[in-house]
Amino acid sequence: MSTILIVDDDTASCRTLQLHFRSQGHETVIGHSVDEGLRRCERAAPDLIVLDIRMPGRSGLDGLPDFKKCCPRSGIIMITAFHDMESTIQAMQRGADDYIHKPIDIDELDSTVARILATSGASSGEVQRVGERDGTPPSMVGRSRRMKEVFKTIGMVADSPVTVLITGESGTGKELVARAIHRSGSRAAGPFVAVNCAALVETLLESELFGHEKGAFTGAVSSQPGKFALARGGTIFLDEIGETSPAIQAKLLRVLQEKEFTPLGAKRAEHTDARIIAATNLNIEESVRQGSFREDLYYRLQVVNIHLPPLRERKEDLLDLVQTLLARINREIQCNISGLTMEVMECFQRYDWPGNVRELENVLMKSAALCAGSTITMDLLPPALRRLDRAPGQASDRPDWQLSLEEVEAMHVLRVLNACSWHKGRACEILGVSRPRLRRMIQHYALEPPSGSGF
Ligand SMILES: Nc1ncnc2c1ncn2[C@@H]1O[C@H](COP(=O)(O)OP(=O)(O)OP(=O)(O)O)[C@@H](O)[C@H]1O
Ligand SMILES: [Mg+2]
Repeated sequence: MSTILIVDDDTASCRTLQLHFRSQGHETVIGHSVDEGLRRCERAAPDLIVLDIRMPGRSGLDGLPDFKKCCPRSGIIMITAFHDMESTIQAMQRGADDYIHKPIDIDELDSTVARILATSGASSGEVQRVGERDGTPPSMVGRSRRMKEVFKTIGMVADSPVTVLITGESGTGKELVARAIHRSGSRAAGPFVAVNCAALVETLLESELFGHEKGAFTGAVSSQPGKFALARGGTIFLDEIGETSPAIQAKLLRVLQEKEFTPLGAKRAEHTDARIIAATNLNIEESVRQGSFREDLYYRLQVVNIHLPPLRERKEDLLDLVQTLLARINREIQCNISGLTMEVMECFQRYDWPGNVRELENVLMKSAALCAGSTITMDLLPPALRRLDRAPGQASDRPDWQLSLEEVEAMHVLRVLNACSWHKGRACEILGVSRPRLRRMIQHYALEPPSGSGF
């Protein structure tokens, strides 16, 4: 996952690019002019800059040297609507990494981006600039009992050096928890270094983690420190640790036991004081039983285990999450979405979110980008969610006008309750009824929260 800065005066093409990059898991930042782009660049320290050439005011070509100066490590792709050899040459001379034409061919864009991110080394666990990109990393929300437990544990372990193993399905917020532990602890001023253990083959991962000496293997032209060395005084986050090979597991065990590691090709071991946080979305106990994950390493890692429940088991968090994510999205794609219709919120309550918070974020992002007004409506949802828009209590497929008043009342009360996560006080306010009356209606119509929602 990388951060990509898009600098283009054309709002529509910014959004298209942004959606595309987001769907691939990248973070995006936007600037509509060279100057705005430079300001954002300073704060976000992007891995890649996509820079339009023709813009009112300073052209992308003029701005290029400033972007290089501001972020010498970022890759730069120039974009222009004109097939103009001269600007191509100039762009390459001024330090662009590549050049593509409008209308953008997505395949060409993808292969260019992948190549540049791979060669700039930005794609796999760079030293993360915690606190530098737009202030602090996003904070976590959730009012469910289980998330409150999670927050409490974060607070308890933040200041101690114990190793923490974070488990949970994909998209439940494991990385966010790791960052929160780092940020709230005594090492907050030190580096937070993330390594995705599943993204690299064994030898590369080994050199990534522990570093290598010059000549340790073909292509090792200079010696390089590993992530354990870079994380001194801070935190190393070993993501997807369940995917590591036996050889890497053995070396990690040594770091955990002796705080020591040996860079590839080195004669002497090095010391590290990095605090270790690991995460996995696999059932690691099962891997231990099956023998694919070392038991001794497992016990060393999970001195403290933080398990993140799937979103479908804590739907009372939905409302807070939607609000927080929408605020983030508004900022990020510069739109102004104020909320969802009740139908949409109901569908959210009914859906079981296999991709968890990340899926919720993607759904909101896509709908927000397509939204002409300020409220997200049913028609903007993906089909899988739209299908859930059957009126509750409406067993048959009778049209609305054939319903009795009682049926309409039952349906409406249920809709309001679901939309407020069964927060009865809020439902009373919306419905304009007293609490006893609401209780009677719930009983009378035998209304129940959606299954598995936990409220
Ligand atoms: N409680 C929360 N409050 C606010 N945002 C959240 C919360 N949980 C997750 N998110 C957001 O959801 C997205 C996914 O979170 P994150 O990357 O931490 O998940 P993950 O468990 O590491 O997923 P994966 O296993 O797919 O790597 C992020 O954008 C994160 O900011
Ligand atoms: Mg993750």
